[in-house]
Amino acid sequence: MEKNSPLKQLIERFPEPLILVNKNAFFYCNQSVKSLLGDRLDPLRLFPDHVVQKLESVTQESGVLKGEEISLNLKDKEERHIAISGVAVGGTGLFLIYDLTEIKTLLRILKNSRDKFRTVLDALQDIVFVVDNSLKIQNANLAAAQWLNEDIKNIIGKDCTIIYEKNRLKEREPSVSLVKKVFDLKEPQQTELKLNDPNGEQRWFLQLALPIFDDKGQVRQVAIILQNIHDQKEKEASILSLNKELKEKNDRLEKLIKRLKETQAQLIQTEKMASIGQLAAGVAHEINNPVGFVNSNVQTLRDYVQDILDLLVLYDEFKNAVLSGEKAKINELADAIEAKKDEIDLEFLLNDIYELLEQSEDGLERVKKIVQDLKDFSHVDQAELKEIDINSAILSTLNVVWNELKYKANVKKELSEDIPLILGFPQKLNQVFMNILVNAAQAIEDRGEIKIVTRKVEHPRLGVEIEISDTGCGMTEEVKQRIFDAFFTTKPVGKGTGLGLNIAYKIVKAHKGEIRVSSQPGKGTTMTVFLPVLNEEEIKDSLQREEGVASVWMGALEEELNVQR
Ligand SMILES: Nc1ncnc2c1ncn2[C@@H]1O[C@H](COP(=O)(O)OP(=O)(O)O)[C@@H](O)[C@H]1O
Ligand SMILES: [Mg+2]
Repeated sequence: MEKNSPLKQLIERFPEPLILVNKNAFFYCNQSVKSLLGDRLDPLRLFPDHVVQKLESVTQESGVLKGEEISLNLKDKEERHIAISGVAVGGTGLFLIYDLTEIKTLLRILKNSRDKFRTVLDALQDIVFVVDNSLKIQNANLAAAQWLNEDIKNIIGKDCTIIYEKNRLKEREPSVSLVKKVFDLKEPQQTELKLNDPNGEQRWFLQLALPIFDDKGQVRQVAIILQNIHDQKEKEASILSLNKELKEKNDRLEKLIKRLKETQAQLIQTEKMASIGQLAAGVAHEINNPVGFVNSNVQTLRDYVQDILDLLVLYDEFKNAVLSGEKAKINELADAIEAKKDEIDLEFLLNDIYELLEQSEDGLERVKKIVQDLKDFSHVDQAELKEIDINSAILSTLNVVWNELKYKANVKKELSEDIPLILGFPQKLNQVFMNILVNAAQAIEDRGEIKIVTRKVEHPRLGVEIEISDTGCGMTEEVKQRIFDAFFTTKPVGKGTGLGLNIAYKIVKAHKGEIRVSSQPGKGTTMTVFLPVLNEEEIKDSLQREEGVASVWMGALEEELNVQR
């Protein structure tokens, strides 16, 4: 070939690598070949022999070469992949070289990432299918294949309904329509459904259907992910049933609390009624006695008045006889008067009148006092906070329960004059003393002694100590441990409620005081109440959480019964 022939120039200026071969096996490479292969002199030296021979034979036979691929190890460059295509006419062949190196690298990277993706997909425990818009399966992971008990390649291309068919899903349609919905709405969808696992057991699955978009923003495929949420679901269910159970228990407890509260209220009422009963009996008895003799005195006085009136009539007649000077009549009436005086025993009568009047005044005084004591005791008109003289409180309480005590015991009092006033609720504290006194009397079988002592206490803080001892039956250690418990009683039904000391304890506590017991079976019992001198702040603080002593009982009782809301 001539040096500057037009063909040569054409080849030289062609922008892609070209090789020209003539029938004498002369090879000519253009500049592009040289720069591609990095050899300025003879790039063809790098070609393997069989390729060079192929180019020659194609040239000689006027044939065609299509995409002959070879890898070349360039001197100082990396490996290069090329493909050669060409055609020969009349003993001249023209061959074009494509550089495939970059494409090959890209393909390798792509394959790597696909392999990695595959590995990740197969490592997933979730079942993954990818379906196209005709709902054919395009890809699936190992978990999916295992779940369907098929090879992955057998699944690909199948209709996605096999996912649900194979696993006997009752609601197959909604699941497929969920996938369709993703294509339509271009938004992820999810639902929970029950499917059989490979062992044929029904399991809860969460089905996620996620759109996979193409460049144009159309949903090209949908990834269906089935997550086994059976354990989670079962836990949820058991939590739910546990919750339900708890709620039921709670409801039952609440009912119980309500019933208990009603019972408590009833019992407190019973204890109150019992106290009122004792009180009424005592008061009735105390009042009956004086009223009885005042009544009989009045009867006697009425007779006396009659006698005196009779005598007065005689005197009147006597006066008239004297004025008219009828001597015989005068004598007669004088005798009659004397006789009458004898008859009615005037001297005794006059003495007795005064005695009866004195006695009656006495009786009325006693009734008046009892009424006063009763008022003091119940403090009907003053249920609020007051400065209390404990001695007077003891005395009025004693009078009120006197009827309960007098047949059982001689009552001894050692009440100190030197005690401070106590700020508190008089009605409530009287209830404490009354309960202790009645308990003391009830502990005595035939007859014994009850001693009441009050004294000032200065340590650990200023206050009053009230000691009530009896010579009754006493208590065993076991009983002693429980006397302040609500509803603890050793008395027969109807007589004891077991609330007296419990309430007493709450009342004393509300006054920031203390109540102690010392007792010996067969010997007797001493109950000691200590009440501190409080300022208003302190007692209000003590009652702050409650709205008064009455609610202290209820609140404290609830606590006692260990009933929580
Ligand atoms: N002075 C006492 N002597 C002996 N036992 C007592 C005395 N005071 C209380 N108890 C015992 O404490 C129990 C509880 O007393 P209390 O709470 O007043 O309830 P109740 O008097 O209704 O039984 C009594 O049943 C009794 O067993
Ligand atoms: Mg009692």
